[in-house]
Amino acid sequence: MSGEHIVLVGFMGTGKSTVGALLASRLGRPFVDTDRLVEETAGMSVSDIFERYGEAEFRRRESEALVRALAGEPAVVATGGGAVLSEANRRAMTGAGFVVALVADPEVLTARLGRGAGRPLLSGDVRERVFRLLEERRHAYDFADLRVDTSHLSPEQVARKILEVFWSRKGENRP
Ligand code: S3P
Repeated sequence: MSGEHIVLVGFMGTGKSTVGALLASRLGRPFVDTDRLVEETAGMSVSDIFERYGEAEFRRRESEALVRALAGEPAVVATGGGAVLSEANRRAMTGAGFVVALVADPEVLTARLGRGAGRPLLSGDVRERVFRLLEERRHAYDFADLRVDTSHLSPEQVARKILEVFWSRKGENRP
């Protein structure tokens, strides 16, 4: 870890946004969600961007949003599940902070994702899409500094685990 941000990566439904918001409030830091940043900048939803301009254009905007988020003051940054697919994005994340991968069992993810609303890559059979994408991305989250399985933990428990490791790495002993 060379920077100051806490960066959350992980598949859709692993809890990045919920845990990220909690971490940010515990740390008194801003919370930045790159999907929301892309949406605010574009003035349209992620689904609309995929539909109108395609996935490649979404990825370009996502990388731009990530760079912007990492250039800001120390924050908790939640990324979209596919942000890790770009080598440049991975390098930017590891260079700018403590990268935490949230993971979860495929069945738990399928249940959490419901009908996949607002997630264009899940359109059709959500369970089939989840299993296929997880297989394609099997090692995509391995570069993180820490991995936390959120399958059977509450967001509070996940946040606590992350903070323990974050503070111990910084040599600080906080409650
Ligand atoms: C994607 C995940 C989504 C969003 C987009 C693509 C992915 O973010 O960026 O739909 O490729 O895994 P969440 O992980 O926040 O759902």
